[in-house]
Amino acid sequence: MSRRPPGPADHPLVQRVRYMRDPLGYLAKCQRELGDIFMLALSKHGMVIVCSPELAKAVYTAGDEYLVAGEAKIKVFGKVLGTSSTLLLDGAPHLERRRLLLPRFRGEIMQTFGPVMLEACRRTLDAMPKDRAFALHPFMHRTAFEVIMRALFATTPPDVLAPLRETLREFANDAITSRLFLFPALQKDLGPWSPWGKVRRIVDRTRPAVLAEIRRRRRQATSTTADIVGLLLDAHDDSGRPLTDEEIRDEILTMVAAGHETTAMALTWLCSTVFTRHDILARLRGELAAQQVLGGPLDVDRLPYLDAVCRESLRFNSLIPNGSGRLLKKPLPLGGYVAPAGAMLTVAFHQIHRRADVFERADEFWPERFIDAKYTPYESIAFGGGTRRCLGMPFALFEMKIVLATLLDQVRLEIVQRDIKPSWRGMFLTPSRGLQVRVRPWPATAARAGTQSPRPDVRHEDLHHG
Ligand code: HEM
Repeated sequence: MSRRPPGPADHPLVQRVRYMRDPLGYLAKCQRELGDIFMLALSKHGMVIVCSPELAKAVYTAGDEYLVAGEAKIKVFGKVLGTSSTLLLDGAPHLERRRLLLPRFRGEIMQTFGPVMLEACRRTLDAMPKDRAFALHPFMHRTAFEVIMRALFATTPPDVLAPLRETLREFANDAITSRLFLFPALQKDLGPWSPWGKVRRIVDRTRPAVLAEIRRRRRQATSTTADIVGLLLDAHDDSGRPLTDEEIRDEILTMVAAGHETTAMALTWLCSTVFTRHDILARLRGELAAQQVLGGPLDVDRLPYLDAVCRESLRFNSLIPNGSGRLLKKPLPLGGYVAPAGAMLTVAFHQIHRRADVFERADEFWPERFIDAKYTPYESIAFGGGTRRCLGMPFALFEMKIVLATLLDQVRLEIVQRDIKPSWRGMFLTPSRGLQVRVRPWPATAARAGTQSPRPDVRHEDLHHG
């Protein structure tokens, strides 16, 4: 048993072009023709891609002697995020860091950020144009950035926060979104106006600015755990060792990088589906009204249908076509083949999420499935898995629920775009054209029934790739 997983007959260059043009379609075609494990020429030594919960389980439970994640990402992100954040560690240091951070990222603690999330969402809503169609994604991006900033630095005084926010905004908008992350060979600093030179200079401004704020906070007489920086300053391992300032800086930069772009896209996909489904809108608004959330205190964690809608959106809409990237340290037997050392290994989230043998009515947006059925961590995997499952999952899910509940309370978004196709933004997929919408009020009558507008003729392209 020493066969490598099969690959398509296409020339490696053609494979890349086809994947970049239509990632979900190409992955579906390869799965149909080659099975649940195959290899594409998407990285230097090839990329093994698995498409079933059983194979995902084998990936997520393989030891560090076979698969590492930090080492795989460090070449790409190390220059920007630093090398000591959870995302880039491996082995025992990674597990220790997770042990230290996980209790501080529990759902109950993340819920304390509810008011800042609500406030950020309301501000974005106020800024939305009321008289014309516009792209929703930039507004969701703004909301998610504001949310992560407020959660990180809630207790930083406004005069200190204002310049730091601008530096981090530049970092988030112009550094971490650089396409050069996909092409390490082109990362050459040829002066301040060259593409990588710009990224480098932004990073060189950002890292000391964040460090300065950590040191300012450490010098303060009283400590607080009312924001994430406070939680990180307060954290210490079993032997009482706290995180160093540099480790906290790298964690903060990672959270800015990992924590808002993904959530913004998840929110845009969520709106793309919910606001075209009048049955779902009606049930959601009914649930919100019944629990007197509208107008009363927002308690989104007691709304099972809202929770199910958000989880179903993460299943149905794939912002990450294949994720959980790992580097193979030595050959790994997998699905009757051997994944070769040196190759990358990824899990095709979309292929797993659309499997008919796991998900009844797999190609339908059907939130009820998450109320009635429990899925294993290898079936519902939008946040990855194993010891590297997304640290921000409770935060992101909570934020999605708050933002959707607030939107539903305030406005009806009319989707004015006919074809909604997945389109690349950095390494993620977002609705094409940023999702064109118009803000409409809820009519006074039947406002909470959600049945008042004609259903726009919206087609979700990726339905055809199931
Ligand atoms: C809907 C929004 C989000 C999605 C879909 C998402 C998805 C993911 C995925 C797929 C991974 C990789 C897991 C693996 O390798 O198996 C990951 C890792 C990670 N995410 Fe998220 N994420 C989201 C939001 C957030 C937020 C809000 C934060 C922080 C506040 C965050 C922080 C992290 C960190 C630190 C890791 C690295 C974990 C590790 O390597 O141990 N994410 N996320």
